[in-house]
Amino acid sequence: MRPSRGLILFLLANLIVIGVLVHSVFTLITLLFEDCSADAIPAIEIPPPENAAEIAKRPQYIPRIIHQTWANESIPEKWQEAQKSCLNLHGDYEYKLWTNEKSRQFIKDEYPWFLDTYDAYPYPIMRADAIRYFILSHYGGIYIDLDDGCHRRLDPLLSYHAWLRKTVPTGISNDAMGAVPGHPFFKQVISQLKSYQRNWQVPYITVMYNTGPLFLSVVWKEYISTVVDEESRVRILMPDEYNTKPWSFFGVYKGSSWHRNDAKAIFWMGQHWLLITCAGFALAATLYVCGFYTYKRMHLRSNASYTAPPAGGFVWPWNGWTWSRGGYRRLPRHAV
Ligand SMILES: *[C@@H]1O[C@H](CO)[C@@H](O)[C@H](O)[C@H]1NC(C)=O
Repeated sequence: MRPSRGLILFLLANLIVIGVLVHSVFTLITLLFEDCSADAIPAIEIPPPENAAEIAKRPQYIPRIIHQTWANESIPEKWQEAQKSCLNLHGDYEYKLWTNEKSRQFIKDEYPWFLDTYDAYPYPIMRADAIRYFILSHYGGIYIDLDDGCHRRLDPLLSYHAWLRKTVPTGISNDAMGAVPGHPFFKQVISQLKSYQRNWQVPYITVMYNTGPLFLSVVWKEYISTVVDEESRVRILMPDEYNTKPWSFFGVYKGSSWHRNDAKAIFWMGQHWLLITCAGFALAATLYVCGFYTYKRMHLRSNASYTAPPAGGFVWPWNGWTWSRGGYRRLPRHAV
């Protein structure tokens, strides 16, 4: 018997859906096992703060610019100390505070193809996420979250072409990053933003996967297999060098994240974003399947004219096609 066109289409559709799911989950799973060791900046490579001569000997690629973002010029009191700690240590660096107005103007002038996406983001934090990738790609320098203070001068971090920081237990974050202008990693990041724009219904996942650390980690994970030379490499700042230790660069003022009130919960979520995201995807998938079957059962019961698929028939939840001994077919529209 020749397979019908419907059957082939049906198999193709399901194959594509499964392929997409496996592909996205695959990168997430490989992220779980990524320890960053291949690109980690070894502690021994960073001279201690008091060894100025050693620090001065190192090459400096990243321009001396510190970027921060806030809605407007009036920084809330609780972050002024953190902001000052960076300014005081880096009087010889250029300092750029990206307000909402400046950020939008910058996108409009330099990346007009992105303006629609930028304006359409449903949460302000997404614009704050996106703008940092564009300014690093354009100007280079070091981006620092406003609630991250500086604990020592950042000069040793200028000796790489690009760096990100590792989060515990896995993945990378976007709260402190550095790069030379036009680095291929950040070019790739900004070119991918548009294709990750999707509303996942759960705000946390939408933010994380559209513009936030999950998005950045997935793009980074896919990028590192394409690195060809030292200049295109993205080095990784490990947790001890990021904060908590006497020789760490950042983080002494970290008390809240995401500019929200329930700082503790959000901070914990920021630290465990990968775990939460995986749990979120699993929960969403379970709810989706359960909801679909419940709806189906209720709907079928109240709809006598509908002939149910034969016993043993299976309904694919994402397209409503049935599979049974009778063959593949689409359910009547009103039943889906
Ligand atoms: C600055 O932005 C904050 C946060 O959105 C807002 O509460 C404050 O009123 C703004 N200040 C000015 C002067 O516009």
